[in-house]
Amino acid sequence: MSEALIKKCLFPAAGYGTRFLPATKSMPKEMLPVVNKPLIQYGVEEALDAVMTGMAIVTVRGKRSIEDHFYINYELEDQIAGSDKESYLKEIRRIMNQAVFSYTRQIEMKGLGHAILTGETLIGDQPFAVVLADDLCYSTDKGVLSQMVELYKYYRCSIVAIEEVPRNETNKYGVIAGDEISPGLIRITNMVEKPKPEEAPSNLAIIGRYILTPDIFDIIRQTPPGRNNEVQITDALLVQAKQGRVLGYKFKGRRFDCGSVPGFMEATRFFFDNVYQD
Ligand code: UTP
Repeated sequence: MSEALIKKCLFPAAGYGTRFLPATKSMPKEMLPVVNKPLIQYGVEEALDAVMTGMAIVTVRGKRSIEDHFYINYELEDQIAGSDKESYLKEIRRIMNQAVFSYTRQIEMKGLGHAILTGETLIGDQPFAVVLADDLCYSTDKGVLSQMVELYKYYRCSIVAIEEVPRNETNKYGVIAGDEISPGLIRITNMVEKPKPEEAPSNLAIIGRYILTPDIFDIIRQTPPGRNNEVQITDALLVQAKQGRVLGYKFKGRRFDCGSVPGFMEATRFFFDNVYQD
């Protein structure tokens, strides 16, 4: 098998998760379970399916529960060894065997762009994926990251997953504009972080899946704080977009905004009815 082009996936998981308080007061929202699996595990599985084996996680408070989740629990394993309950650990054991986890901490919450820059030490000088685990993606065929890697093989530039959102919700997203170069694939010419509906360049919103080329780190370093006084990845990506080096991809599948209570409930119902197996 040829070596994977994108080997590492970055998980910025240092946000406050205020929309999910009080649940997120002492635990990261990435550990909220949809049915019986924490959000971040779905993201890690999607990355593994796309043949990425390096999981780089940017954390802050409550980091222990994420680290512990992807580590052996000797006492528990010993207790249930040989019993029929062992099968419950099959999936997580496979992940631990196939993936390598590394962690770093974001010292100050200065925004998603800053969180990605914090991950540079874990990524190095290579193209990489980014997953925002609270955007839970479901697809009957290939996962969203696998779809994006296929595109990267051909285009070799940054790629963001996009989806149409209601006009009155553009202020929750980075919103793009550009030229459709093939069905569902847009060469981005403009992008704005959280625009008011009347100022949005379209209703095509960036969701939490990215493939980024490593020059993004230098660009972020030079990017001043933007919307909400945070360093925005959207602003850094605009620099690449102005050079014609960012694609927007209308992914195949569904996305659930699990950072919000309604989106999380919808995902829970959907995954229980369609994905969960007892
Ligand atoms: P959100 O905008 O969803 O913010 O961040 P949040 O703090 O997680 O949630 P709310 O809005 O307060 O409820 C988008 C992603 O960027 C990460 C978050 O963890 C989330 O995955 N992030 C954001 C960081 O890692 N660091 C930051 O400084 C900001």
